[in-house]
Amino acid sequence: MNILEVNNVSKIYGSLHALSDVNLTVEEGKWLSIMGPSGSGKTTLMNIIGCMDKPSLGSVILDGQDITQLSLPQLTEIRRDKIGLIFQQFHLVSYLTALENVMVAQYYHSMVDENEALQALERVGLAARAKHLPRQLSGGEQQRVCIARALINYPKLILADEPTGNLDESNEAMVMNLLHQLHEEGSTIIVVTHSVEVSKHAQTTVVLEHGKVARVINN
Ligand SMILES: Nc1ncnc2c1ncn2[C@@H]1O[C@H](COP(=O)(O)OP(=O)(O)OP(=O)(O)O)[C@@H](O)[C@H]1O
Ligand SMILES: [Mg+2]
Repeated sequence: MNILEVNNVSKIYGSLHALSDVNLTVEEGKWLSIMGPSGSGKTTLMNIIGCMDKPSLGSVILDGQDITQLSLPQLTEIRRDKIGLIFQQFHLVSYLTALENVMVAQYYHSMVDENEALQALERVGLAARAKHLPRQLSGGEQQRVCIARALINYPKLILADEPTGNLDESNEAMVMNLLHQLHEEGSTIIVVTHSVEVSKHAQTTVVLEHGKVARVINN
């Protein structure tokens, strides 16, 4: 079964085609990488798949449902129930501790449980940092809090936009390891990356150029 079908999707800003007639299908349980030069439309596509933006043209079927037909509250619900976002620009709440940031995700699933939140932080190696605010954490540690937050609801689909972008080797290895664990637990993974190394963790790599799918590579 396909968890995702992107059908003839375009995103047009005035005269700029950020995405131009993109077609893409992802089977449930697969791991896909998206590569391509800066400005090729990777984040635009991830925002649309992640229910944070709508295409100008085309449809997106997520887990059997056409999300392009949904209202904003419905999109928020889908995002909450099915998607784990690991976006660099998807900030943690600055005045909440690492633990509280994870608990916010629980709150949206109406089951706040401090022990479970702490366990999620333990899984990403941050139990000792639970009471720290985001500004007291390194970039790699903040990224791991985002992953702990994504771990909370066992999302069907994990979307990671440059999850290792600013990380050193050991943090990169830790993040990739966590993604592998989530994948083994059954999540479908889509990772945007500029790193060929990182892209090779996927079964398939899609290369975007000028808003179009330029190549599909089987790794
Ligand atoms: N809200 C917007 N309004 C106008 N143009 C936009 C908007 N969002 C993105 N764009 C443009 O769409 C194109 C694709 O942007 P996008 O962020 O998807 O690129 P990207 O592939 O993620 O690049 P990078 O690797 O630098 O993150 C760019 O030319 C960008 O300037
Ligand atoms: Mg981007």
